Amino acid sequence: MGNYGYFDDLNREYVITNPKTPVKWINYIGTLAFGGFVDHTGGALICKGDPALNRITRYIPQLPGSEFKGETLYLRFRAGDRYRVFSPYFVPTLDHYDRYECRVGLGYTRIISEFYGIRTDVTVFVPPGDSRVIRDYKFTNVSRQPIELDAIPVVEYTHPDALKQLTNADWVPQTMQSRVHDDDDGIKILLQYPLMRRDVTINYFTSNQPASSFETDRARFLGDHEYGAWANPLALHVAELSNYEAHRGDNIAALLHHLGVIQPGKTKRLVTQLGQEVSVAAALPLVRRYRDGRKVDAVFDQMARFWDRYLSTMQVETPDANMNRMLNVYNPRQCHVTQNWSRYLSLYQLGFGARGVGFRDTAQDVMGVMAHAPAEARMLIEMLLSVQRRNGSAFHQFNPLTMIADAGDSREVEGAPDYYGDDHLWIVLAITAYLKETGDLAFLDKIVPYYEKDRAGHPVETGTVLDHMHRAVKFTTANAGAHGLPLLGFADWNDTVNLRTGAESLFVAHLYGKALLEMIDLARHTGDSAAADRYVGYYEAMKVRVNDLAWDGEWYVRYFDADGSPLGSKANGFGQIYVNGQSWPVIAGFATPDRARQALNSVCRRLNTRNGIKLSMPGFNGWDPTRGGITTYPPGAKENGGIFLHANPWVIMAEALLGNGERAFEYYDQINPVAKNDKIDEFECEPYVYPQNVLSDEHPQFGLARNSWLTGTASWAYQAAPQYILGIAPTYHGLRIDPCIPRSWDGFKLVRRFRGTVYQIEVANPEHVGRGVKSVSVDGQPIPGNLVPILEEGKAHKVEVVMG
Ligand code: GLC
Repeated sequence: MGNYGYFDDLNREYVITNPKTPVKWINYIGTLAFGGFVDHTGGALICKGDPALNRITRYIPQLPGSEFKGETLYLRFRAGDRYRVFSPYFVPTLDHYDRYECRVGLGYTRIISEFYGIRTDVTVFVPPGDSRVIRDYKFTNVSRQPIELDAIPVVEYTHPDALKQLTNADWVPQTMQSRVHDDDDGIKILLQYPLMRRDVTINYFTSNQPASSFETDRARFLGDHEYGAWANPLALHVAELSNYEAHRGDNIAALLHHLGVIQPGKTKRLVTQLGQEVSVAAALPLVRRYRDGRKVDAVFDQMARFWDRYLSTMQVETPDANMNRMLNVYNPRQCHVTQNWSRYLSLYQLGFGARGVGFRDTAQDVMGVMAHAPAEARMLIEMLLSVQRRNGSAFHQFNPLTMIADAGDSREVEGAPDYYGDDHLWIVLAITAYLKETGDLAFLDKIVPYYEKDRAGHPVETGTVLDHMHRAVKFTTANAGAHGLPLLGFADWNDTVNLRTGAESLFVAHLYGKALLEMIDLARHTGDSAAADRYVGYYEAMKVRVNDLAWDGEWYVRYFDADGSPLGSKANGFGQIYVNGQSWPVIAGFATPDRARQALNSVCRRLNTRNGIKLSMPGFNGWDPTRGGITTYPPGAKENGGIFLHANPWVIMAEALLGNGERAFEYYDQINPVAKNDKIDEFECEPYVYPQNVLSDEHPQFGLARNSWLTGTASWAYQAAPQYILGIAPTYHGLRIDPCIPRSWDGFKLVRRFRGTVYQIEVANPEHVGRGVKSVSVDGQPIPGNLVPILEEGKAHKVEVVMG
């Protein structure tokens, strides 16, 4: 088959040219406050504020690709004494198309198709900060005859409690209601609400053209007691819809528009709106506003300007076109999505409330948007701190609307520790990244509550942000096992290795080391030498322990089980070597130079594949309750020796820290989704975002990706490439420049907004070295060293760097 589309770099769009992609390829519109995803055949899952508690459209990802999902539009015209009915989205009618193109853009999806002489060009988006989805349709007659066209957009609602919709087929249908509101000039607004909340919250669906009839009941629309089907609704074979206001049942919103005769070459425009408001009265002003096509154009332009500005925060020009695409468009875009939806809502993370926002996930996600959206990052950090416990550990996840937190999967295992060894430590990294980016040290004094509440629901204790950080570190210091290494808790970053209570985690030891380095750096910056000295002591002690206990000969072990036996050692039959056990001692600065090199060489030899680095090997081959979730997967899948992409950028960072630019870049390149565009039959997922996992060479379907979009890979790839390969990293005192690139590169350019000004950095590599900065000049003046200071705000500054 080859591929299913191409990158249109000029328009910053990926263009899907074949609707029969191996799995649905999606795009996000709006934000978590209102929005969701749209698939490449027009289906859409839309929520307001929270996908579990306030879901609007019914979208069931597990149904086949050919099925109706959430929203579509039908067109019809008369052919003899019958109607020809089809959808310009291809799904759900699956007619033969003469042209199909889905443009995956920044905050919008645009689908252009041609069927039966009618070109439909529709753009789907949520205006910035708004609570509505706009679908802006243009229908053009590309045939030689006039065509009299009817357009019938349809939405299927879900109960707002997304799980109840699936678990209760009595209460849900009895509580669903729809009404019509007739506005001026024959324009109809269909209202939908559950639980008699008509005076509190309504969903609405409307358009900018008079509708001659409507339908709100799915059974009537499909016809024949639903033996009519979405592929060919029987209601569309009679002149008008039944104008029925549903008093129960499966609610839909369908509007029938007679667009009239479209002459050859002529176009008619139809704009639909799907939104949620407290009442019709509250919805009306903006609903009316967007009936005007010029207002729709204006707000679309406003959104485009948002993305221009957002992406201009950092732009690169390297010799590698695929790297440029990712760093200039798709990677920061994916980071914006993970910042919004954490691991909550995608085609794979179904948003039914079992997870919510993950503590460790979001703490890492915010690091990917620090430069672009520092205010949002700060807000999220505060939310995370408010689910930290007084003892310094964190709840694993929380619901963003209710702010109710829980201990994640550990709840399901009786007697298991109720915390994850790593969660709380990530927040230290997130906060220091924020401070280095912004210089906003006042944030450290902000008072934020700890999670515990009294009977009245008030927090029993509050503390400054800095206090929260100290407690996070303290929790790990205080919770060590038999070897003096941090206890694992229920799990660490690798959720699925669930060892018996008392097990110790080397990963947590390394993450603690990195967090301590950050605390030391910060304490020195703020002049708190007592804290700096204390943390240097902790750091050195842990470094000694790690090197005394965890070196296995050619790499570091990953865990000690409760009985003191190692996991991630050549002594093990399965799980002999774990990648995070090698990259992280380098990132933490624990590994001695010789061991660091050996450990990373072992990664290359034992874990690297052409599709990325595996998490561990060999994969477990059978359920083993003493190891937990990892043994539920076949070898080569997910955390059981699969290519779990999230861990790949950490190896890139470690290789760059050791100065190996060739390998750092090779590891970056081999997981670059852009490069998968020509291998889609193997990869299957969207080539414009990182997936969470790819099956490894231990699995017969080596190379197959799943769980696209919501993965920490986005944030870490977006840190590893600019900060470690290109080597431009924010510090408390300016931008540090220390590239680690392939020797063959002649250099690169990077434009970066930082502390209120723009740094235009040009790096030349005349001697073709992989690392080393010979000279730096700022606005023509040489500076000593490689730290470009914080420069005067406002005007752009030119930074010239020569490697050598
Ligand atoms: C998933 C989880 C993340 C975890 C990773 C590895 O991506 O969201 O929290 O670290 O799996 O188990």
